[in-house]
Amino acid sequence: MHILANKNLANKHILLGVTGSIAAYKAAELVRRLREGGAEVRVVLSAGGTEFVTPLTFQALSGNPVHSELLDTEAEAAMGHIALARWADAVVIAPASANVIARLAQGRADDLLAAVCLATEVPVAVAPAMNQQMWANAATQDNLQRLRARRIHQFGPAEGGQACGETGLGRMLEADDIARHTAGLFDTGALAGLQVLLTAGPTQEAIDPVRYLSNRSSGRMGYAVAQAAAEAGARVTLVSGPTALATPPRVERIDVRSAEEMHTAVLARATDADIFIATAAVADYRPVAPVQQKIKKTADNLSLELVRNPDILADVAALTDGPLTVGFAAETENLLEYARDKLARKGLDMIAANRVGNGLGFEAEENALSVIDAEGVTELAQAPKTQLARRLIARIAEYFKRRLG
Ligand code: PMT
Repeated sequence: MHILANKNLANKHILLGVTGSIAAYKAAELVRRLREGGAEVRVVLSAGGTEFVTPLTFQALSGNPVHSELLDTEAEAAMGHIALARWADAVVIAPASANVIARLAQGRADDLLAAVCLATEVPVAVAPAMNQQMWANAATQDNLQRLRARRIHQFGPAEGGQACGETGLGRMLEADDIARHTAGLFDTGALAGLQVLLTAGPTQEAIDPVRYLSNRSSGRMGYAVAQAAAEAGARVTLVSGPTALATPPRVERIDVRSAEEMHTAVLARATDADIFIATAAVADYRPVAPVQQKIKKTADNLSLELVRNPDILADVAALTDGPLTVGFAAETENLLEYARDKLARKGLDMIAANRVGNGLGFEAEENALSVIDAEGVTELAQAPKTQLARRLIARIAEYFKRRLG
């Protein structure tokens, strides 16, 4: 049952900070719960945490090496605090001792966990665990107030019997509850009640029964945007060209092959959508007439006659009472100039321009976007596509509400 409730954890990178508290043993169970929900987990174990549970326990349960040292030359080369901060989709500290809460409130960077928390842009949550007097102390409460003001989430604590024999507030929540709250970190509700239609991946244009024209789009960017839209509460339909990716949770997927099939599938649904996001790399041309039998290699030269494909995005943008339209532009040069031209020529509301090449754009794990609309240019700095997609969805939601909401 908890697996269903935690669907949002699928494919998420959760960095679990474990600090010095008797509740550290419950963090072992938490690693299992997070992984059952589909998350990948890396554990940062503080010096205090190692007094209660060994790194080996977390290594075995997470399937990843455990991180402890801030200034460890080997670890820094492999995955130091900046790399860990960039890797994570969320940082959850469970148990969070009174000490780590105080240190986060001060913004310290003198151990690995504190440094990661300073270096990350993703949601950070603490699950406090401490003696009830320490919890009630004004210093702890002041520190927590400072964390809340910085939008650090707080899971718990619960009330009940404590390891020290006292009873009161300060018990860490159970692993199931923390996993459920962690999944909830990704539910922004920014697009609640809206219908989002997307295209993703490449299209394949048949030459003969075994050959086609296509491009290098993996579908990663589009699938990440679909997932982020679903997390934001939208009903999401993803019209996808051929990819090797799994459908994100709570996303309806319609598989197509060619640009013409994608055009038909999108236009049939576009008037029901509030927002249309075109991330697909649609082939601009297709062979005039695919050959019915496999072409034999008898001739020295072969010419393919191509014809222009319909422009899906421009056709959606031209609909009266159509959705808000968001295009993508992949460019190798003159990024903003070419993207602005597409925005105007296709009559779009917004365009997300990405520079392709040098490890970004097509096929890559990471991307960076310049989002252009009537309000100006919003730069979304280089990040894994899943994180970037969440920022893009936040920007689209903000724009939608201001313009049409
Ligand atoms: O899939 P990945 O490997 O993760 O790579 C992501 C990506 C680089 C493919 C993606 O981020 C991206 O930039 N997609 C748009 C690619 C592009 O250059 O499109 P375009 O310039 O050909 O078209 C501009 C816009 O019109 C796009 O939104 C496109 O989806 C749309 N279009 C184009 C042609 C056409 N016939 N129909 C369309 O809808």
